[in-house]
Amino acid sequence: MSDIPVLKVENLKKRYGNTVILNGVSFEVQKGETKVIIGPSGTGKSTLLACINRLVEPDEGKVYLEGEEITHHNAAKMRQKIGFVFQDFNLFNHLTALDNVRIGLIKVQKFSKQEATEIAMEQLRKVGLADKAHLYPSQLSGGQKQRVAIARALAMRPKLILFDEPTSALDPELIGEVLTVMIDLAKSGMTMLVVTHELGFARTVANEIIFMENGVIIEQGPPDQLFTNPKMERTKIFLRKLTELYGEKAR
Ligand SMILES: Nc1ncnc2c1ncn2[C@@H]1O[C@H](COP(=O)(O)OP(=O)(O)OP(=O)(O)O)[C@@H](O)[C@H]1O
Ligand SMILES: [Mg+2]
Repeated sequence: MSDIPVLKVENLKKRYGNTVILNGVSFEVQKGETKVIIGPSGTGKSTLLACINRLVEPDEGKVYLEGEEITHHNAAKMRQKIGFVFQDFNLFNHLTALDNVRIGLIKVQKFSKQEATEIAMEQLRKVGLADKAHLYPSQLSGGQKQRVAIARALAMRPKLILFDEPTSALDPELIGEVLTVMIDLAKSGMTMLVVTHELGFARTVANEIIFMENGVIIEQGPPDQLFTNPKMERTKIFLRKLTELYGEKAR
């Protein structure tokens, strides 16, 4: 059981019109692993995550969750098993933090209101927001909103959480609080696939970095190897650009 990957992506392809966005992407994420995807803008990173949890239908290829092929499963059902944290939080603005976290538990997982509240409060506590449970998104900072979104994902007890640039919409001074929560999560054994340009985060917790360009994986390897001794010229060039743009934030 333990060698069955939590996530296996096999030869995933996606085209929009005549434009190939994903051109045969394959990789695995083992239980408890954190994998980080980096790559230039427009390269298909978001499309890849969206194909995994079927916000987008892939044209070809297969996705397996704990060994079971889920490519054609009911998308809504499958999304209960795979959490998704978006760049722009995707919270319901008319609901409080608590209601955002417990709505899926009540409506989808059919927990009683009391049970859902207990689970939701526990997750809000985990991300340091128990005292903000009754505030609406408009009353929260960007970092707090993203932590609510993480609590919401966690509340569903997912097998895996996908993160799509979770800190790139945040003011610099708010990035650290979200990364701290994500680092704790990774260390607690959550299985995570994270698109991010936060190299400090990647260095701290990633088991492996995947470098994608133009719809294919150019290179993958542990952060030590990929950052200090990349095999491919493309990877070197991209890492140099990234460091120029963001610096080497070693958090
Ligand atoms: N619904 C769509 N219809 C047509 N083209 C699309 C659609 N969604 C994405 N694309 C195109 O697919 C390509 C890959 O987009 P994607 O958002 O996956 O890139 P990305 O690597 O996440 O980029 P970024 O780093 O800027 O977030 C882009 O050229 C984009 O314009
Ligand atoms: Mg993207």
